[in-house]
Amino acid sequence: MNIPVIKPESRFKIFWELYTLIVTVAVTIVAPLIVVFRLQLTPALLAFDILVTCTFVLDILIQFNTALVVRHQLITSHRAIARRYLRSWFVLDVIATIPFTWFFSAIRYASLNRVLRFTRLARLFKLFGSTKTLNRARKLNFLNPAFMRLFLLVFWILVAAHLIACGWILIDGPGQYMSGHTATNGEVYLEAFYWTVTTLTTIGYGDITPSEPIQFIYVIIVMLTGAAIYGFIIGNIANIIANLDVAKSQFREKVETVDTFLKYRSIPASLQKRIHEYYDYLWESRRGYEESKLLMDLPTSLKTQVAFFLNQDIIEKVPIFKNADKTLIRDVILNLKPVIYTPGDNVISYGEIGYEMYFISQGEVDVTNEAGNITYATLTSGHFFGEIALLLSTRRTATVKAKVYCDLYMLDKETFDSILERYPSFAEEVAQLAETRRRELGLSQEEG
Ligand code: CMP
Repeated sequence: MNIPVIKPESRFKIFWELYTLIVTVAVTIVAPLIVVFRLQLTPALLAFDILVTCTFVLDILIQFNTALVVRHQLITSHRAIARRYLRSWFVLDVIATIPFTWFFSAIRYASLNRVLRFTRLARLFKLFGSTKTLNRARKLNFLNPAFMRLFLLVFWILVAAHLIACGWILIDGPGQYMSGHTATNGEVYLEAFYWTVTTLTTIGYGDITPSEPIQFIYVIIVMLTGAAIYGFIIGNIANIIANLDVAKSQFREKVETVDTFLKYRSIPASLQKRIHEYYDYLWESRRGYEESKLLMDLPTSLKTQVAFFLNQDIIEKVPIFKNADKTLIRDVILNLKPVIYTPGDNVISYGEIGYEMYFISQGEVDVTNEAGNITYATLTSGHFFGEIALLLSTRRTATVKAKVYCDLYMLDKETFDSILERYPSFAEEVAQLAETRRRELGLSQEEG
């Protein structure tokens, strides 16, 4: 019989892994508590135990039916899957699954029963693999990687503290500190957890101290572990927090470098202010990313697709592209280069030689005469300019000044010419608009 295999990246598998992870964590919390407090198997605990067993059994079955990914190749042969699983987690999974305690529930074996409960913790080792699960879950797009690392770190510390606290209860016996009455399980646990935290963080007030050799040994081990964990945490948390938002920290670094340079070269304060404002805009409008540089490493086909996606909105905004040929749009999109202009910048200056034209994605520009005292037109999102000099090989017929921050897309003359050559109807439309504009210019200049 040919049973279909489950894909490791499928939604079902990811959710299943997350679910087993949650169950494992629950077991890690509950199993040691049952042992150290000699808890009776109440109906709730029994139900939990049954749920755990069923989950782990099902998980073993699912593992036998999940395809493998080896060097980005999907392996679906049941034989290969089984061989791999039998050699890796299988034994631990089975040990964790068998509900030993059910077999030894006779009172005579009570202590053995208790020890065997720890077999459930065999799954704990699998938690080390949880990063992989969580990474996969990340692909479902609901987790930030740095946040995830922080979460995992805290999680591991809590798990370790919990196990150490349970160990302390096991060898210490209940209620050393909370005197005056017989301590409840909750109070004993709280005291043990308090002791664990003070010892692990190397604070160790000395209010709860060892008195028997086994306790001394335990304390020594926990203190040494604490010292190691503490150093590890300090190093990691600083790193993780710095990386919580990689884009932001890189951007901040860049701005600080520029800032130092501006101060070192005594750039005028007003210019510095404009530069800062530009960076603010860069952050607000595109999180500081410079698209063209960022995509440089990608292979051409991927680069093309990303460019296509990124520049799509401009195509929707520019009316002359609305009904244009698909291949024409493709050619244009792939050759557009995003540029930003700050308020007051001259995008085009009257009389210069023109090598490119511009499409406005966002912002507003004024088309003026050389002196800037006559405004022929104000162009906004979806308009284009700079085509006359390219079409007629003349100098720029007007000055174009950014009124506010402008997100423009630049198209170079070479691409423009080759596009006009290949798409005559498009060339016609652009030529007509250029002619109208020239006429308007002529009229205004005559009036002027
Ligand atoms: P170009 O001459 O290359 O550079 C200045 C640009 O301003 C010009 O191309 C046109 O794109 C644009 N322009 C000139 N006159 C007008 C107008 N009357 N209305 C809109 N845009 C204009």
